[in-house]
Amino acid sequence: MIGRLNHVAIAVSDIDAATAIYRDTLGADVSSRQEQPDHGVSTVFINLPNTKIELLEPLGDDSPIAKFLEKNPSGGIHHVCYEVDDILVARDKLVADGARVLGDGEPKIGAHGKPVLFLHPKDFLGTLTELEEA
Ligand code: CO
Repeated sequence: MIGRLNHVAIAVSDIDAATAIYRDTLGADVSSRQEQPDHGVSTVFINLPNTKIELLEPLGDDSPIAKFLEKNPSGGIHHVCYEVDDILVARDKLVADGARVLGDGEPKIGAHGKPVLFLHPKDFLGTLTELEEA
């Protein structure tokens, strides 16, 4: 069912410093910074030949990544994102198999303007898992 690895997301407390590490130290192609108020984060995408890294910095008072950064003050891998052909078909199969979808269970428009869902980390090996309709 799942297809390509769309991105790995890394939560950071200082996205400009994190971007500089990828751009200057690792020599990667980085996007400009974007604020995503609907998701409570600012993002920068690192474009690699075979996938992307999504840097996330908290935005606003109740960012969904604030708690993660309290526990991981130097940053850390926050989630992985896999592409699916049809997000509703994928969701219905996963729910039928007992997996939990976060939030109200309906897809939201993600950072790339495409529908996304998040799956409960306890159902997927301790890893917050995002699905994005490709
Ligand atoms: Co993501």
